[in-house]
Amino acid sequence: MKLFVYHTPELTPTDSVPDCAIAIDVLRATTTIATALHAGAEAVQAFSDMEKLMQVSEEWPAEKRLRAGERGGAKVAGCDLGNSPLDCTPELMQGRRLFISTTNGTRALQCVQAAPTVLAGAFINRQAVVQYVLTQKPETVWLVGSGWEGSYSLEDTACAGAIAHSLLSGSNIPLDELAGNDEVIAAIALFSQWQDKLLDLFHYASHGKRLLRLNCHEDLKYCSKPDILDVLPIQREPGVLVKNS
Ligand code: MLT
Repeated sequence: MKLFVYHTPELTPTDSVPDCAIAIDVLRATTTIATALHAGAEAVQAFSDMEKLMQVSEEWPAEKRLRAGERGGAKVAGCDLGNSPLDCTPELMQGRRLFISTTNGTRALQCVQAAPTVLAGAFINRQAVVQYVLTQKPETVWLVGSGWEGSYSLEDTACAGAIAHSLLSGSNIPLDELAGNDEVIAAIALFSQWQDKLLDLFHYASHGKRLLRLNCHEDLKYCSKPDILDVLPIQREPGVLVKNS
């Protein structure tokens, strides 16, 4: 197994695909997707384009759909929800499809959607992602951070490091064999330094600060909790993620 970390969709190669791609947007898209599926959503359908989301979701029965839209951290007018994982309650999600478009996370999913296996990873479901990879043993694994509009995000790289760290100890593959690029080693180092104070790290992160200005303190707390949900979002068809059973 070889791991590669790419900090943003823009840094992700476009001329090849891995056996398994893991899209990461800790704050907050992949945390929200994992939470929605855990709460009973039938599927989550991700769009980078808001207009396309509206078009496709219009064809879905109104009582069976929810539309979530976020730009700049805030809810998009006309949507049922923004991008807070805390809104994904079982009462709301049960049996419904969540159509979601966010600033960066849904673009990260889109940039790897041609891979044979696509997963959505976050701190809250880190262990479920790691277990899947250790069991399936894909040859090449890409951990793709969402960043913010093309620039680096601390929290996504820390989560990539958390996944890589667990794969390193769980696979017994030496680091120099496992790491496909330097970013893997840097991500593990970042996670190792902050693993006991992830919430503090989120407070230093530029998107963490943006969300704090929008009063999303509880979201940050929730997103910083490792391994609280045993749920693995996996792509069933391009852009459509379901709970792996
Ligand atoms: C994104 O896709 O950039 C994020 O999920 C933004 C957010 O925190 O809602």
